[in-house]
Amino acid sequence: MRNITQENITQAVLDSLSDTPDPRSRKIFRGLVQHLHDFARDVELTEAEWFTGIQFLTATGQKSDDKRQEFILLSDVLGLSMLTVAMNNDKPAGCTESTVFGPFYVEGAPHCEYGDDIARGAVGEPCEVTASVRGLDGTPVANAVVDVWQADAEGRYDVQRPELDHAQGRGQFRTDAQGRLRFRTVLAEAYPIPVDGPVGRFLGAAKRHPWRPAHLHFMIQAPGYETLITHVFREGDAYLDSDAVFGVRQSLVAPWTRRLEGGHALHYDFVLDARPA
Ligand code: BEZ
Ligand code: FE
Repeated sequence: MRNITQENITQAVLDSLSDTPDPRSRKIFRGLVQHLHDFARDVELTEAEWFTGIQFLTATGQKSDDKRQEFILLSDVLGLSMLTVAMNNDKPAGCTESTVFGPFYVEGAPHCEYGDDIARGAVGEPCEVTASVRGLDGTPVANAVVDVWQADAEGRYDVQRPELDHAQGRGQFRTDAQGRLRFRTVLAEAYPIPVDGPVGRFLGAAKRHPWRPAHLHFMIQAPGYETLITHVFREGDAYLDSDAVFGVRQSLVAPWTRRLEGGHALHYDFVLDARPA
């Protein structure tokens, strides 16, 4: 009989996983065990602390449902979402960079035409957005499917307003023959990520704020190109350097200009990465 000790337990668990048939799963399982054990040793984890950790993870699961995904939020505030995005979306120079997806995308957003208003009554100052979608060689990408979603002036997405019976601040467009896109909306403002759950308690314990700098979300899909999931951030926002989910990239920060006739305007040129043949 093997005598399990704190010296040999890590190897024992690693050995128990060495027959995992799928090589990728084997690597992930073993890596996870190695790092978890290293972590426990490194911080000299007490039993009471690990029980607190279990309670925290339990609460994270209990807070999650089909509308709220507290585990994604946890991954976001720990920078794990953005690390995974950055590691897996290394693109040639000149392509638009990717950032986190976030929890507020909704499938089946209203179909919109060039120039439509996606605010549909959302509160905020008027704003016109124009954009182009091109390949790295400058070819316009016609008929690309472009999903847009954003928070309103009070920093809330439509899905955070249970009283609403229609979509606000979101829509799905197709680029025109020149790869262009235009829509009217309201000015996006900075907003706090949800803090009424365990992730909020974690941020509080670490004395971290929950704010994200103002941004628009875009997902752009076109045959022959990698799908682009990204944001455009508002230049000058106070939270650009301390985004609660570490999603900011310099190349995604753009100026919103004030228009003489009132309201605001943004133009952004997206460059897609061609999918390998
Ligand atoms: C968002 O930008 O919608 C978002 C991203 C990560 C966490 C919470 C919100
Ligand atoms: Fe957002």
